Amino acid sequence: MASPQEAARPLPGDVVANAVLLRAQELMRLLPVTPHLHVVRVGEDPASVSYVKTKANRARKIGLESTVHALPAETGEDELVALVERLSLDDAVHGVLVQLPFPEGSHIRKDRVLAALNPDKDVDGLTHVNIGRLWSDEPGLRPCTPAGVLSLLDHYEVPLKGRRAVIIGRSNLVGKPLAALLLSRHATVTLAHSRTRELAAVAREADILVAAVGRAGIVTPDMVRPGAVVVDVGINRVDGQVVGDVAPEVASVAGALTPVPGGVGLLTVAHLLLNTVLAARQQTLGLPPSDNL
Ligand SMILES: NC(=O)c1ccc[n+]([C@@H]2O[C@H](COP(=O)([O-])OP(=O)(O)OC[C@H]3O[C@@H](n4cnc5c(N)ncnc54)[C@H](OP(=O)(O)O)[C@@H]3O)[C@@H](O)[C@H]2O)c1
Repeated sequence: MASPQEAARPLPGDVVANAVLLRAQELMRLLPVTPHLHVVRVGEDPASVSYVKTKANRARKIGLESTVHALPAETGEDELVALVERLSLDDAVHGVLVQLPFPEGSHIRKDRVLAALNPDKDVDGLTHVNIGRLWSDEPGLRPCTPAGVLSLLDHYEVPLKGRRAVIIGRSNLVGKPLAALLLSRHATVTLAHSRTRELAAVAREADILVAAVGRAGIVTPDMVRPGAVVVDVGINRVDGQVVGDVAPEVASVAGALTPVPGGVGLLTVAHLLLNTVLAARQQTLGLPPSDNL
C-alpha cells in the first residue's frame, strides 16, 4: 500500500461546479429571455423538500427564474400529468423538473408523468427521448449527475479515451447514463451491479472507478488498482454524517479521489441549471443543446 505521503489527490467539486455555473451565466447573457425553471414536488418528504429548495434557491442565485409547484401527497396521477402537460406547452416555461421519488404509497406512475413532459424541457434528461438521444450520441439534455461526473473528470484532465472505466451501480439515474457518456468519450466501460460476480476483481480492472451504489464503504482498498481515479457518487447518512460509497482507506491506494461531501454532489445542481439555460437557448434561438460534455 502507498505511504500516507502518497495519499490520493483530492478532486473537489466546488471549483468545477463554479466553472459550470459560470458557463451557464455566459450562455444566459446571449438569450432574449431569462430562463425559467419549474420544479414540481409531490408530498412533504423532508429530503425532497430540501433538494427542491436548494435547486430553486441556486437557480435564483445565478439569475434564473424559478417556480416551485408543491402538491399535496394525495395528488392523483391525472392531476400531475395535467400540470406537466400545461408546463410543457407554456412558452414562458423553459425547464421542468419533477422531483422523484413520489411519496410512499403514491400510485403515480413515473413513466406516465415523464411521457407527458416535453423532452426539450426535460432538464433532468430522464425522458425516453433524451435517453435515446444520449445513447445515439445526438445532442440532448443529459442527466445531471452523470454530466457532473464527466465535467469533473474533464476539469481534472483525467484521460478517458481507451481507458477502462468500471461503474458500480446501473440505475437509470446515474450508472446507465454515465456509461453512455463515458462510452461516447471512447472509454471501455463495464457496468457492475448487485449480481456481478467477483466484484473486487472487476473493479480492480478500472483506470477510472465510479461508485454509485448507496452503501457506505462498499468500495474497499482491495477493489482499487493502485493509482486509479476513484469517483464517489454515493450519498449515505451514517450517524448523522454524510459519507460516500468509498471507504476512507481507499485514499492510500487510489491516485485521485472525489470527496463526499464536496465532490460530485455539488455538480448535480450546477448541471441542472446549465441544462435549464441550454433548454431556453434551444427554445428561443433554435440551437440544439450543445454537446458540452
Ligand atoms: N451526488 C449526487 O448528486 C447524487 C445523485 C444521485 C444519486 N446519488 C447517490 O448515488 C447512490 C446511487 O444512487 P442511485 O439512484 O443510482 O441508486 P439505486 O437506484 O438504488 O441503484 C443502486 C445500484 O447499486 C447496485 N448495488 C446495490 N448493492 C450492490 C452491491 N452490494 N454490489 C454491487 N452493486 C450494488 C444496484 O444493483 P442492482 O441494479 O442489481 O439492484 C443498483 O444498480 C446513492 O447513494 C445516491 O444517494 C448521488
